[in-house]
Amino acid sequence: MDSGALDWTRSADPIDVLLGEHRTILQVVDEVERESRRLEAAAVLREAFWQDLLHFADEFDGKLHHHKEEQLLFPALERAGLQPDSGPTAVLRDEHLRTHFWRTRIEQALQTRDRARLAASAASYVDLVRMHVLKENQILFPLARKLIAADDLERMHREFRLLAADQRTHYWLKHPYALDDAC
Ligand SMILES: [Fe+2]
Repeated sequence: MDSGALDWTRSADPIDVLLGEHRTILQVVDEVERESRRLEAAAVLREAFWQDLLHFADEFDGKLHHHKEEQLLFPALERAGLQPDSGPTAVLRDEHLRTHFWRTRIEQALQTRDRARLAASAASYVDLVRMHVLKENQILFPLARKLIAADDLERMHREFRLLAADQRTHYWLKHPYALDDAC
């Protein structure tokens, strides 16, 4: 990480940590959009790029980021009054599943080297992730800051740090995303 960059893992605010992770996720989807344009324009399928994306989707987005939200943030919001079956957390959990669905469609298109299907699945993935991140940033996180008590936020932050250590987040700090951007 360059020394001038904001080190969001040192923040004492778990919402800042999640916002930082969203910035990384948005950088990745920007790269996916650029790669899709190359795929369509040059008809070249760069396997390594897409494998990196699948790795990122599984290890960072799925196991780290979604885990923090689904296992820690959403339950804290539900304890603070949101309805688990019909409120914003239910919608966002469903969007996490849909994100995984499009990640799997990308993998399937890659296996069959179907460029048209890969580009279409990648476009759906990018649109969904951008919309989802915007919704969390603009609606859920302000709600979390309003509803969750300070000691609950502090506890959540400690859990985040444990999780980060368990899941070897240091890898992602050195490599905010690992996409192969050579072309
Ligand atoms: Fe998120």
